[in-house]
Amino acid sequence: YVIGVDLGTSAVKILLVNQHGEVTQEVSKSYPLIQEKVGYSEQDPNDWVEQTIAGLTELLAEFKGNPEDIEGLSFSGQMHGLVLLDENQEVLRNAILWNDTRTSKECEEIYERVGKERLLRLTKNPALEGFTLPKILWVKNNEPEVFEKAKAFVLPKDYVRLKLTGHLHMEYSDAAGTLLLHVAEKTWSKEICEVLEINPEICPPLVGSHEIVGTITADIAEATGLSDATKVFAGGADNACGAIGSGILEDGKTLVSTGTSGVVLSYEANGDKDFEGKVHYFNHAAPEVFYTMGVTLAAGYSLSWFKDTFAKDISFEALLADIDTVPVGSNGLIFTPYIVGERTPHVDANIRGSFIGMDASHERKHFARSVLEGITFSLNESVEIFRENGKNIDTVVSIGGGAKNESWLQMQADILGANIVKMQSEQGPGMGAAMLAAYGCGWFDSLKECANEFLKEDKVYTPIPENVERYKGLFAIYKEVYGKTSDLNK
Ligand code: XUL
Repeated sequence: YVIGVDLGTSAVKILLVNQHGEVTQEVSKSYPLIQEKVGYSEQDPNDWVEQTIAGLTELLAEFKGNPEDIEGLSFSGQMHGLVLLDENQEVLRNAILWNDTRTSKECEEIYERVGKERLLRLTKNPALEGFTLPKILWVKNNEPEVFEKAKAFVLPKDYVRLKLTGHLHMEYSDAAGTLLLHVAEKTWSKEICEVLEINPEICPPLVGSHEIVGTITADIAEATGLSDATKVFAGGADNACGAIGSGILEDGKTLVSTGTSGVVLSYEANGDKDFEGKVHYFNHAAPEVFYTMGVTLAAGYSLSWFKDTFAKDISFEALLADIDTVPVGSNGLIFTPYIVGERTPHVDANIRGSFIGMDASHERKHFARSVLEGITFSLNESVEIFRENGKNIDTVVSIGGGAKNESWLQMQADILGANIVKMQSEQGPGMGAAMLAAYGCGWFDSLKECANEFLKEDKVYTPIPENVERYKGLFAIYKEVYGKTSDLNK
């Protein structure tokens, strides 16, 4: 067996997977978000560790085999979150998460001091509020007494791995999202550290996602019931792991994933392309390759906001049960999902969302459908950038919340104008993490071989021509909303 630990934004999900890729046990433990001010989003890293240990303990308590039968464990993690560590490798403050947007000033500072062109050349990415470097600068600028004590920074899953193994590392796929990695060369950029007066020593040693970093410590083995011989592999960024867990391992493969955020992700064989920073360009968790990705900040988050605000007492299933009785296009009601700002394509932390085209006949179900359509329009803006840059996107694997609802899957086919593939018993990033452990343990010669054994397609949704046409018209209107509303929150 291997274990995949997916450290998400709302919960840690732990999968126990056998040699055929079957999930034999599954545990999930949640932890709170701390949002003290508008735009702030933090978590206590020790909550992640506690809940991971609690989850592993529960899993092992129900496990029928020998703990030694669990050969390896690896991670998938929410990206970009800043965890600052002191000399004893303890956290100095709450982690500042990927969806925290307090760092607009620091993004400007990065452009002023490093220069946009140089930043893109070195890191392949623009300065975005969500990335880690602006968060490091924010702490340096606003909490100098904390920053002075920082001996290392890590990303969320690296902290949990540190506490499980005693070893401090970062791996390339997550390091790529810090804005401090020279993505093509896979080294920390001393140049950026120097310009911004950041001590490069705070950057931890880098390893590959499938590389072994140690074993479970005796204390953690005792607390959880795991064997202290269980090998621990570095793991990857959640989007990279979601891609591995969906077989995005060769040219021409594209993924749509709808979690709290939504992403459109496309495989890149090498690091020599240039999308001028319009989409993110990161190292994959598969060795020596890359992926490009557009991000919708509030995908599932828009839907859960809508449910919490207008339909608190019913389930998501009940909320979406009758959206098929609403015509394609929600009778002219259009939603833009910019409720916490937007990344792709607008890169604007201040823009706010909207419903337009309301009329007195609209019921809650129209709003529910238009929320899904708006999220999918936003994802289509990323698909459009890929297509404009010569990528052929005719088949897309869909995972996450958006793959759990048949109507939403058909909507994705109709809006993206592509065949949408749903996986059998899709497990997303947690499965990618388990596959990294399986590959690391030597069960397979490559991740592709592992994917052939572990992953199976379920059903393909094909675009319905008349819906495609209707959505094309609405998408053109959707795209205009940004320009017309971008001053709303300024
Ligand atoms: C990607 C991003 C999010 C997080 C979610 O750049 O910020 O998708 O990885 O965990």
